[in-house]
Amino acid sequence: MQGMWIQGGRPLQGTWRVSGAKNAALKMMAAALMASEPCLVDDVPDIRDVATMMGVMRHLGADVRLEPGGRLHIKPPDYPCWEAPEHLVRQMRASVLVMGPLLARTGRVRISMPGGCAIGPRPIDLHLKGLRQLGAEIVEEHGFVEAWAHRLEGAEIQLDFPSVGATENLMMAATMARGVTIIRNAAREPEIVDLQTFLNNMGARIVGAGTDTIRITGVRELGGARHAVIPDRIEAGTAMVAAAITGGDVVVTNVIPEHLEAVTAKLREAGVEVEPAGAGALRVRGSLRPKAFSVRTQPYPGFPTDMQPQFMALAAVAEGASLVKETVYTSRMKHADELRRMGADIVVDGSVAVIRGVERLTGAVVEATDLRAGAALILAGLAAEGDTVVEGMEHIDRGYELIDEKLRSVGARVRRISEDLPVAGERPLVRA
Ligand code: UD1
Repeated sequence: MQGMWIQGGRPLQGTWRVSGAKNAALKMMAAALMASEPCLVDDVPDIRDVATMMGVMRHLGADVRLEPGGRLHIKPPDYPCWEAPEHLVRQMRASVLVMGPLLARTGRVRISMPGGCAIGPRPIDLHLKGLRQLGAEIVEEHGFVEAWAHRLEGAEIQLDFPSVGATENLMMAATMARGVTIIRNAAREPEIVDLQTFLNNMGARIVGAGTDTIRITGVRELGGARHAVIPDRIEAGTAMVAAAITGGDVVVTNVIPEHLEAVTAKLREAGVEVEPAGAGALRVRGSLRPKAFSVRTQPYPGFPTDMQPQFMALAAVAEGASLVKETVYTSRMKHADELRRMGADIVVDGSVAVIRGVERLTGAVVEATDLRAGAALILAGLAAEGDTVVEGMEHIDRGYELIDEKLRSVGARVRRISEDLPVAGERPLVRA
């Protein structure tokens, strides 16, 4: 197991360049399975989830290669395998996104049912309901889902909830269906707009992504495409909180400011200065101590659930009492326990947390239970007095490219450590 050692209390200063969006890149990789020609995707982050998706694609017969610098070459198989590898699907929930493309291309797919995860149960009922409406026959048994369709048929689909994954899976499945599909109450996340652009470059006919109604006119075949992935708004948000929580001054580059409006508004409410710094860049200046705020997670354009743990870390050192309400997941509050180990005053009741800001957190050994919880603990460690070790870097490496290098580039004192290697020259930290 790998950890990150952090010496806290240093205001961050400098420039942080954001990588391409994980949650856009993974979907484009799945979409490329439908192409009859090679695809080239730029700005793909070199992270563990992308490596896992590359493994899934190789198993399905694709040739995939990620060049240093983030150019991903994909040569889709002529006849993809229709059975997704169970061990990889279990590692990464986003692998369910191969369902729509495989069903569209081969008329058949078998995939293991993704289980629950650290942030709560995450069913795929909306994906399956929509695929059935597109004419797929689906059997769920022995922990697997198997689906067939000679050729999918366009349909009008009303999603019960604007699920990001269901919107994307159905949008991809419908690109090669016969006739027109309309997805209503669709999720509006920027990554869905990026997927629409990529699919349209492949020859699909999709309009409406970014609104709650997406219209897809089915085509017979999809060709190759070239595309560059949008910047990762969650990495950008994390960098912005890093500047804020340390009272630092950081220019975050390679961002699309409109994608960060909810995060920016909340930071300003906390007394943090956020200003444009040229094209595609934001300058974030923290004050001595942030002010308390209230936040409620919602589907885009609301405040993103993937930024909730990081803002809880910020609230932990804010002046006054903050309120955090999680509405997207049922149990995304585990980071509160670890933040408490660092001296935070947090009371959790179901999906609501009340955080009374303390003047200073204190370094401790803490454990990342999932990707964004891990990011929150790193942020807390940057602000804390003394040394922190965040264990469970494998979670953080799923979604943050070169996080330790990026932190060092803005002046943080951080180092990767492995469990059996104590930090040279530092007081060893042992979890109580
Ligand atoms: C995506 C993001 C994830 C983010 C989430 C919400 C990727 C790879 N992951 O996940 O980082 O936290 O959007 O912004 O893009 N639900 C159902 N039934 C379904 C599908 C979803 O009940 O069939 C529920 C989920 O359990 C969850 C909520 O809807 O409580 C949101 O899920 P969804 O929007 O589908 O998120 P993902 O696409 O899984």
